[in-house]
Amino acid sequence: MAHHAHLSGVFAPQREEVDINDLEVDGEIPDDLHGTYLRNGPNPRFDPIGSYVYPLDGDAMVHRLEIADGAAHYRNRFVRTPMVLAEERAGHAIWSGLTDGYTPSADEVGPDLAGTFRQLPDINIVQHAGRLLAMAESDQPYRLDPAGLGTIGRDSCDGAMAVGSTAHPKIDPSTGELVLFNYLLEAPYLTWAVIGPDGTTRRPPTPVEGVDRPLMIHDMALTTRYIVLFLCPLVFDVGAMLNGGSLLQWHPESGTRIALIPRDGGSIRWVDSEPMWVWHFANAFDTDGDQASGGDTVTVDYVEWTYPGAFADMPRAASSTLVRAILDPARGTITRTVLGESVDVEFPRVDDRRLTLPHSRVATVGRSGGDTGDRDSLWFHDLQAGTETCWRPGVAIGEPIYMPGERHDYWGAFGTDPDDLTSSFYVLAAEDPAAGPLATVRMPIRVPAGLHGAWLPAGEPVEAVPPIG
Ligand SMILES: [Fe+2]
Repeated sequence: MAHHAHLSGVFAPQREEVDINDLEVDGEIPDDLHGTYLRNGPNPRFDPIGSYVYPLDGDAMVHRLEIADGAAHYRNRFVRTPMVLAEERAGHAIWSGLTDGYTPSADEVGPDLAGTFRQLPDINIVQHAGRLLAMAESDQPYRLDPAGLGTIGRDSCDGAMAVGSTAHPKIDPSTGELVLFNYLLEAPYLTWAVIGPDGTTRRPPTPVEGVDRPLMIHDMALTTRYIVLFLCPLVFDVGAMLNGGSLLQWHPESGTRIALIPRDGGSIRWVDSEPMWVWHFANAFDTDGDQASGGDTVTVDYVEWTYPGAFADMPRAASSTLVRAILDPARGTITRTVLGESVDVEFPRVDDRRLTLPHSRVATVGRSGGDTGDRDSLWFHDLQAGTETCWRPGVAIGEPIYMPGERHDYWGAFGTDPDDLTSSFYVLAAEDPAAGPLATVRMPIRVPAGLHGAWLPAGEPVEAVPPIG
């Protein structure tokens, strides 16, 4: 399996599950930082048979780093889907990769699992209303036990995720609502839904009117007034796949359509734009208009790609940039500005307490062009000051996370040395992150390069745990 770039080196799956307290630390973990960092990512339980499509294929492993009183404790667990459990009983992989189309027979896995595809809750991890959820791409998430990280089961979240959910729902820190969308291969192709802060469904899956074909949409943005969906022209085409082509086809002639869906249920405003591709949004917020500047606008910060690259059987995209789009819902116009000079960036994050509100600090992961081609640098964009700084630790580095402390705030990220394959968690001062880490937590086992994470401040209420449904 070493032939596959995403199954070897810093990406090689971790098969050990451990609980280790009081990790070794270089420097000092700030004593005002208390909370838990959780991170998800593809991590096949057994060596795959057939194809392996990164980042979607693979089983999920959740890594948890608890930070309190200057110490750090670690636990990691597989998300045990029925597929993982059946493969553990067999001692080898049974389900094929996403694009192979093979499903196991009843002889192999029994009648309940016959004809099923592998479930892939390996993209993101979200805590909301007492539920800790390992999120999949356009599917129902898996609920985990927050204490032990054991797998509880698939959860429709009171029906709001009955038809599935994006792996990137957004939690409004002002209202406590979780807002999500989901794309479907069949009409109505796109829905949205809302879960209240008590975990019950406030809006069941609701079709987005005016969508006439199945599109891949990975992430969303949320403002106080709107759900912002970028409908980039990456189209699911089952017919093309059956003829030996890619399931995903790029149709730049269609351009990108942006839906501004009023959260109060009003009619959707559409904005037409040039074709582009977006994996991830940093944040979005509303700005009230005045007589001088005109009407109300929506500001969206995101990483813009010229096209989706290898994902649609195309050459790898040359670069991606952090972009600010100003959308005018009344006029249907868009103005895009590249922020800073960093290129080839991804995984933009802000302080999650700023979601739906104006923000100043954005961090992204960059690639400095070293031998391995790994993402190896963190960019810190201060949008108020108009500056950006970079920290290059000399290791492969993952998505940054913003960690508010009692007196100061911090950025954190996992990294893995490509030479000796040891992993660390870095704690950086948010005031001056490019100065390098205040603390380097030495991870007791390798944490594979992965996808998305969440910071849960200490004392988050977990007692209100709704039943699975
Ligand atoms: Fe993502």
